[in-house]
Amino acid sequence: MNVPLLDLVAQYRTIKDDVLTAVMAVIERQGFIMGPEVAQLEAEIARLSHARHGIACASGTDALLLPLKALDLRRDDEVITTAFTFFATAGTIHNAGGTPVFVDIDPVTYNISPAAVEAAITPKTRGIVVVHLFGQMAAMEEITAIAGRHGLPVIEDAAQSIGARRKIDGVWRMSGELGMVGTLSFFPTKNLGAWGDAGLIVTQDDALAERLRRLRLHGGSRQYLHEEVGTNSRLDSLQAAVLLAKLPHLARWNEARQRNAARYNGAFSGHPAICPPRTDPANDHIFHQYTIQVPQRDELQAHLKAKGVGHAIYYPLALHLQPCFAHLGYRRGSLPATEAAMDSVLSLPIYPELTREQQDTVIETVTSFYA
Ligand SMILES: Cc1ncc(COP(=O)(O)O)c(C=O)c1O
Repeated sequence: MNVPLLDLVAQYRTIKDDVLTAVMAVIERQGFIMGPEVAQLEAEIARLSHARHGIACASGTDALLLPLKALDLRRDDEVITTAFTFFATAGTIHNAGGTPVFVDIDPVTYNISPAAVEAAITPKTRGIVVVHLFGQMAAMEEITAIAGRHGLPVIEDAAQSIGARRKIDGVWRMSGELGMVGTLSFFPTKNLGAWGDAGLIVTQDDALAERLRRLRLHGGSRQYLHEEVGTNSRLDSLQAAVLLAKLPHLARWNEARQRNAARYNGAFSGHPAICPPRTDPANDHIFHQYTIQVPQRDELQAHLKAKGVGHAIYYPLALHLQPCFAHLGYRRGSLPATEAAMDSVLSLPIYPELTREQQDTVIETVTSFYA
C-alpha cells in the first residue's frame, strides 16, 4: 500500500461543498481584494490566538518580514534565532536589513534553547525570533523573561503551530499570544492550509497593528499618502474564504493528528533504534510534523521510498550551514544539537485523514527495516 506524506485530496473530499460555496460567494460578488472575508479571518484568528489584532498578509514569509521591518534594522543589528527551521525564519531577518545570529536548540523539543539565547545577547542584539517547530511551543516563559530583562522584542514564528498551547503558571497560553507578534503561515500543507499562499500576524499592540497594516499596503494609512515605504502584501479574499470555511475543522484535525501521534508513539516507544518525538509536558502539541530520530536515516529513507511510504527530512541542512550565510562564519560543530538533529530526523505521515491501515503500513515498514 502506498502512503503519501500528506493527502490534501482526502481532506478536500470531506469539506468540498463548504469551501466551494465560500469561494463561489467571492466570485459571484467579484470582490477579490480586502473583502469582508479578510476582516473576518483576521478577527477569528486573533480570537483563536488570544490576541487583540490580526493582520492578514500574502504569506507566512511576509508575516515575519513585516514585523521585522518594523524593527528598523541596520546591517550590524543582530536578531537571535534558531538554525533548525524553514529558511524563511532567517531569510526575512536578512531581508529586513539585519543579521541573523544562530543559536542551538533543545535536543528534546528541537526548539530554540533559552540558555543559548541568553548567552548570545550582545549590545547589537535587536530581537529574538522563536520558532514553535513541528507544532509544539518553545519555552516562552523563559524566553520572554530573558527578553524582558534585556528589553528585546520576541517574534513568535508560529507557522507550524496554529492552535498549539503551553501551560504557563497554570494558564493555557496560545502560540503567538506572548510575543511582540505571532506569525502564521497558511501554506497549503500547514495544519490550516489555504489554496495558495497566505499568512497572518497576530499582536496585542495597537500601535504596532496600525503600522503593520500600513506596511502591508505600501506604507500608507490613506490612499496616495505614504508615511513610509511598505509593500503589497494583501491577502486575497478568495484565500480568506477558503480559510474561513476550513477553520471550524481545525480543532478536530489537530486532535486527529494527536491521536495518530499517540498511536505511533505506542508502536515506537521502547524500540531500540527509533526515538519518537518528545512533547514537553507543559505543551499541547498539534503535530504539524511527526518526527522520529533514527540511526542509518538515509538508508531507512531509501527503504521507505522503495516501499512507497511518504516521508521527508525537515531539515537536511540547518541554516547556519547554508551557502548564503557562509559569511557569518559558522562551521560544522558550531551548533552540535542542531547538527545531530539534522543528521537523524525523519518525518512520517501524520495528516488527519491517515487511515489505520495506512498507519500500520508506515509502522510496519519502519520497524521491519531495523528487524
Ligand atoms: C517555520 C516556518 N516559518 C516560515 C514559513 C514561511 O511560510 P510561507 O511558506 O507561508 O511563506 C514556514 C512555512 O513554509 C515555516 O515552516
